[in-house]
Amino acid sequence: MSMSAIDLTGVRKKYHDKVVVDEVSFTVAAGECFGLLGPNGAGKSTITRMVLGMAPPDAGKITVLGMPVPARARLARGRIGVVPQFDNLDHAFTVRENLLVFGRYFGMSTREVEAAIPPLLEFARLESKADSRVAALSGGMKRRLTLARALINDPQLLVMDEPTTGLDPHARHLIWERLRLLLARGKTIILTTHFMEEAERLCDRLCVLDGGRIIAEGRPHALIEEQIGCPVLEIYGGNPRELRALISPYAERIEVSGETIFCYAADPEQVRVQLRGRTDLRLLQRPPNLEDVFLRLTGRDMEK
Ligand SMILES: Nc1ncnc2c1ncn2[C@@H]1O[C@H](COP(=O)(O)OP(=O)(O)OP(=O)(O)O)[C@@H](O)[C@H]1O
Ligand SMILES: [Mg+2]
Repeated sequence: MSMSAIDLTGVRKKYHDKVVVDEVSFTVAAGECFGLLGPNGAGKSTITRMVLGMAPPDAGKITVLGMPVPARARLARGRIGVVPQFDNLDHAFTVRENLLVFGRYFGMSTREVEAAIPPLLEFARLESKADSRVAALSGGMKRRLTLARALINDPQLLVMDEPTTGLDPHARHLIWERLRLLLARGKTIILTTHFMEEAERLCDRLCVLDGGRIIAEGRPHALIEEQIGCPVLEIYGGNPRELRALISPYAERIEVSGETIFCYAADPEQVRVQLRGRTDLRLLQRPPNLEDVFLRLTGRDMEK
């Protein structure tokens, strides 16, 4: 288990003189689930494309399953399942045909692919859609097919860019369960996500990127403890500026995001006392989570 599945050292990528991935280094151990988090444009998809050998880095070194990438990317790709951020299914083909074509592309015999298809249709809950054309599927069904397709070659490593974006809550929970099973079977996963719950549930370790740089890295619960470490009171309604002034003496830290105030307080009761009788407000007290870490680390005005 000592061999790492993915190794990046000092990786940089520029597009038109703009550095979009800057000195990024991380290691994903075999059997681990590693998350890439960060705001839109942070460089997550660019990193996943470089790991797949689809975009050459301008500097640094990438090794995937023991092979240098992009030099040996073709070979590595045979053992990787890929879920791109945007589906690239063949819309003119049926669900079954998409799986067949993909399996054949990996050098599987027709018989092998046909044996692999039923469990994949079940994985994606697409049993009743096997002979429907992709063009006739809903957005979430297409996403589920893309996930199933990524597993056709029984890959050792899964590279998934926002795997559950666009899925309904049932489908998302189902996919989480299935991904856990794959991890239990020793597969390695690297995923990007904007769902903090997904990262918290699935990832052994993750990094937070901003502007192409890693700004935090660690186990989800360790990051939550280090970065937040106290209960959170969410407050909606009312005027954030006025409320902020009222409660700030009793809070460790306050974050305003849109119309919600996130109040981090060792003793939230003191804050609640200040707001007693305010029927215009809605309060929600909860333990800290990864979303709080994200807001803290990447907090900024949205115009950027
Ligand atoms: N092919 C390209 N040509 C030019 N610029 C690009 C290209 N691909 C990405 N970029 C730029 O690189 C930066 C990082 O993009 P990337 O797609 O990696 O972000 P991301 O973290 O995946 O964001 P999102 O959460 O929105 O998917 C952005 O500023 C983007 O505009
Ligand atoms: Mg992306």
